[in-house]
Amino acid sequence: MRPDIVLITGATAGIGQAVARTAIAAGSRVIAVGRRQERLDALKEELGDRLWPMTLDVRDLARIRPAFEELPSKFQAIDCLVNSAGLALGLDKFWLSDDQHWQQMIDTNITALLHVTRAVLPGMLARGRGHVLQLGSVAGTYPYGGGSAYGGSKAFVSKFSDHLRVDLGGTPVRVTSIEPGAVETEFSVVRFGGDQARADKVYEGFQPLTAQNIADSIWFCACQPAHVNINHLEIMPVSQTANGFAFHRK
Ligand SMILES: NC(=O)c1ccc[n+]([C@@H]2O[C@H](COP(=O)([O-])OP(=O)(O)OC[C@H]3O[C@@H](n4cnc5c(N)ncnc54)[C@H](OP(=O)(O)O)[C@@H]3O)[C@@H](O)[C@H]2O)c1
Repeated sequence: MRPDIVLITGATAGIGQAVARTAIAAGSRVIAVGRRQERLDALKEELGDRLWPMTLDVRDLARIRPAFEELPSKFQAIDCLVNSAGLALGLDKFWLSDDQHWQQMIDTNITALLHVTRAVLPGMLARGRGHVLQLGSVAGTYPYGGGSAYGGSKAFVSKFSDHLRVDLGGTPVRVTSIEPGAVETEFSVVRFGGDQARADKVYEGFQPLTAQNIADSIWFCACQPAHVNINHLEIMPVSQTANGFAFHRK
């Protein structure tokens, strides 16, 4: 069942932007959220009037509900939310990491995601139709060095999705946690503070996933018949595997 109106946070780049293109191509309307207005303007130029650009920093919690209430009537009945706005910052051991980095990850990946979800759910319940898709990560399941705050935030997304599904039991609203491995987007450039060369090294010598690979998976989940809920979807490139335990021997 194709969603009619899809709200996507983080639609100015990467996975969220690929979902926006996929949803518009399928005939849905899209509310595209991000901070970079010029990117949203370009997306509207490219995708046309079925896209509504919403310039919003999702950490501006007081703005979230008013921004949704101000939507034009033909974009009000959101039946699909894709919470893709998120980031990793830095790759240092936790005690060496910048506290502003992990605070921003928590504010974006956890707190803002909760507030956006909270703002959208009452309308979905009232209309008896809705699907919340959250961008988790394999980092929420498998630990790696330097990923403690990021991985912790993504474990939250996965567990929050499980608990939310329980609260929504008996309603038609669905919840899916999408958990990708390495996807080549602006993710690593952001993580390394704009250092493109260091970001490129992350994907050197293997074929990472593309944003479109993940968008296709998200759209597959979103278009299932109304009685089907894909709870979790973990997706990695064939060349990526979980690394197991380390033994620090004498
Ligand atoms: N790439 C990967 O390998 C990977 C793997 C697993 C999970 N993920 C998750 O997938 C999601 C999307 O990542 P991506 O790979 O598409 O990264 P990306 O290319 O860097 O895109 C991130 C998006 O989030 C938006 N964003 C960040 N902070 C925001 C804020 N405060 N308010 C509004 N929008 C904000 C950015 O828009 P603006 O800068 O314009 O605001 C951008 O559109 C993230 O949650 C990420 O953790 C990524």
